[in-house]
Amino acid sequence: MTKRPDYLIAPSILSADFARLGEEVDAVVAAGADVVHFDVMDNHYVPNLTIGPVVCEALRKHGVTAPIDVHLMVRPVDQLVSSFAAAGATYISFHPEASDHVHRTISLIRESGCKPGLVFNPATPLDWLDHCLEYLDLVLIMSVNPGFGGQSFIPSSLAKLRAARARIDASGRAVRLEVDGGVKTSNIAEIAAAGADMLVAGSAIFGSKDYKATIGAMRKALSAV
Ligand code: DX5
Ligand code: ZN
Repeated sequence: MTKRPDYLIAPSILSADFARLGEEVDAVVAAGADVVHFDVMDNHYVPNLTIGPVVCEALRKHGVTAPIDVHLMVRPVDQLVSSFAAAGATYISFHPEASDHVHRTISLIRESGCKPGLVFNPATPLDWLDHCLEYLDLVLIMSVNPGFGGQSFIPSSLAKLRAARARIDASGRAVRLEVDGGVKTSNIAEIAAAGADMLVAGSAIFGSKDYKATIGAMRKALSAV
């Protein structure tokens, strides 16, 4: 990396108290979060079921102005793109295995006014980027298998992050490299050193007593990278 990145910390609301979601999002933003990571699961593409566009819209109506990073773990994808765009999404990312026409889905996200991202499961090769990196604003490397919070970081994700970082740098485009799964205060520096500049953390933040202290500790670790 030539220039020091501005790291974005993105708490995953999957680990928030859903009975108090608006307050929880306000609390992490007040504690220094940059982006709200919004996990959408359909009990089909992944073995879990979460939240949809009405909840995203409710957060906007509640007054959340931070970027909302919608991570779609659903199949099919396209129908939900316009719904999430209308609900106030900022980024919309999806898994290439879940779309029959990846380039078309990326185009739909862009045309809907959102920033497109492509998500790579632990065993999904980066080859998908050969023909679509130029259309993306975000590459998301899953460092756990999607579906649940609180899993352990898969160590081979570091090499994948380095490979993705090399591709992004070679492209010369401003593409975010996001990592999702098992990110903690204790490993965030190593993960950032591998090239990630947008760091999702669910259980590490929402499972802690003091969100500000936890996000502060993450930022301190990042400042030493
Ligand atoms: C997993 C989700 C993640 C999850 C991460 O499918 O995409 O965003 O919330 O949770 P932690 O940070 O607890 O691993
Ligand atoms: Zn996620």
